[in-house]
Amino acid sequence: IFSGPVTFLKSAPDLKFLPDGNVMEIAFAGRSNVGKSSLINALVNRNGLARASNTPGRTQELNFFDVGSPILFRICDMPGYGFAKAPVATVQKWRHLVNDYLRGRQKLKRTFVLIDARHGFKDVDRDFMKMLDDAAISYRIVITKADKIKNSELVKISEEVQAELRKHSAAYPEISITSAEKKGGIDELRAFILETIET
Ligand code: GTP
Ligand code: MG
Repeated sequence: IFSGPVTFLKSAPDLKFLPDGNVMEIAFAGRSNVGKSSLINALVNRNGLARASNTPGRTQELNFFDVGSPILFRICDMPGYGFAKAPVATVQKWRHLVNDYLRGRQKLKRTFVLIDARHGFKDVDRDFMKMLDDAAISYRIVITKADKIKNSELVKISEEVQAELRKHSAAYPEISITSAEKKGGIDELRAFILETIET
């Protein structure tokens, strides 16, 4: 499925532009620059499908991609949160867009919350997870950029992340560890997504 057709469907700057149709969605959230767009590209094996960039704040709308033909599910790439350098109004707009989409979307099947292997949880991540807990939106943590740190540090940060997850009622207990750059953990995450879609 992940090596089959994947097409960009649309960008939604506002909830009224969300796609119609009875297609399941999975969404990728996380701080700006954590690697959401890169992870999506790695998952579907298409460089440059979701636009990635070294400049935080690259993704500014909800971007939808259709996977499979006929369509099996839809991926939503979202703007990041916790981007301190963006104007306050912009940060708020993105936060509302992301939060309102996640809270109101019936066909949303799973949310992935991405955490940079070098940084672990920050307060903005905790706030975001609290919002998901309160709305009973179940989510799975995905550690990104695993190639950037040593294995010993990766083990340490994974343990810290898992310890903290127990405090969050809507968190999936298992985590995924990935590198979009080196394609680490990508097959496993694909398998998890397929399982999610099929159940
Ligand atoms: P916004 O759309 O701005 O919120 O960012 P994003 O979360 O979509 O991040 P994006 O995918 O644009 O990646 C940000 C930067 O991190 C880019 O320069 C990527 O090349 C880099 N990056 C992403 N994933 C990895 C990874 O697994 N390993 C390494 N080394 N770099 C990565
Ligand atoms: Mg992005």
